[in-house]
Amino acid sequence: MLPKFNSKAFLAPMSGISDPAFRLLCKEQGAGLVVTELTSVDAIIQKEKELKKDNKIITEFVEFSEEERPVSVQLFGNNIDKIVKAAKIVEPYFDIIDFNMGCPAPHITRQMAGAALLQKKEFNEELFTRLVNAVDKPVTLKLRTGPSEGNCYVFREVAKVAENAGVQMIALHARSVKQGYSGEADWDKIKELKELVSIPIVGNGDITSPEKAKEMMDYTGCDYVMIGRGARGNPSIFDQVNDYLRKGSYENDLKKRKSFANKYLSYTDNYNIKFSNIRMQVMQFTKGLRNGSELRLKIGQAKTIDELKELINEEF
Ligand SMILES: Cc1cc2nc3c(=O)[nH]c(=O)nc-3n(C[C@H](O)[C@H](O)[C@H](O)COP(=O)(O)O)c2cc1C
Repeated sequence: MLPKFNSKAFLAPMSGISDPAFRLLCKEQGAGLVVTELTSVDAIIQKEKELKKDNKIITEFVEFSEEERPVSVQLFGNNIDKIVKAAKIVEPYFDIIDFNMGCPAPHITRQMAGAALLQKKEFNEELFTRLVNAVDKPVTLKLRTGPSEGNCYVFREVAKVAENAGVQMIALHARSVKQGYSGEADWDKIKELKELVSIPIVGNGDITSPEKAKEMMDYTGCDYVMIGRGARGNPSIFDQVNDYLRKGSYENDLKKRKSFANKYLSYTDNYNIKFSNIRMQVMQFTKGLRNGSELRLKIGQAKTIDELKELINEEF
């Protein structure tokens, strides 16, 4: 069974962004679900072997904190045995096992993983069935509409196959693979998906404000919304969506950016996050600030966490 979500707004998995420190911040700001960055099943299997030798467990590699719960782990891969094996390794620690069938990045699709699997009907049938049967935790799926604008209804078949196999929730980023991030997400396809299957649907694509979140829910009937780029440097979007859905208004958050940036940095102490990623996140918190572009230049030159802290405290 799916866990209980305290909000209808979820944080999207974003490689290099939805690290455990940022997820925790979003969770504290009211996100109903947070999802790890996509993680290779091969890496999970390999790391588990190495960690076991030192009596350590996989959460040293796929890091998270109890405060994030419910937390979903997103896997990608191209081999069913390995996908199932990796899912079993992470299952004890996470609340949901999410499978990625949406990533358009060439280094993923070249391995026939991510969005490259969209059209492999038989593979998908076997994958979903075996995955759902192998783990006790709910299995969910994240996909795009199809390979290209000319072939953008593949999601229909994948969703049906997934639902029949016991997948419990589907998030649709309503763009084709070829579109990348260009153009607009086609919310009509989210609406169609919601009408097609009876499991919960998470609408995703181009939610940049609480108004947009409500608009997507009203227009498509989706059960939840997933926010990616709109949450970068802007974790209070979750609180704002929650307020807007409840009472029709919300507060501006620019005053909170300094405390978010400081909190984010303090949380990173507990995890193994690349400095370049941390620096990029801190840059995001300057969006909308009066001296934002000047600050971003300075942040870009910072070499240590202490330098970042100094910049935040003196210039935000
Ligand atoms: C930098 C970046 C990294 C992403 N990484 C992932 C990922 O690891 N897994 C995934 O399913 N989607 C990933 N996505 C896609 C997002 O989850 C989301 O589907 C997409 O950004 C559309 O939502 P948005 O318009 O709210 O940003 C990524 C997107 C961005 C911008």
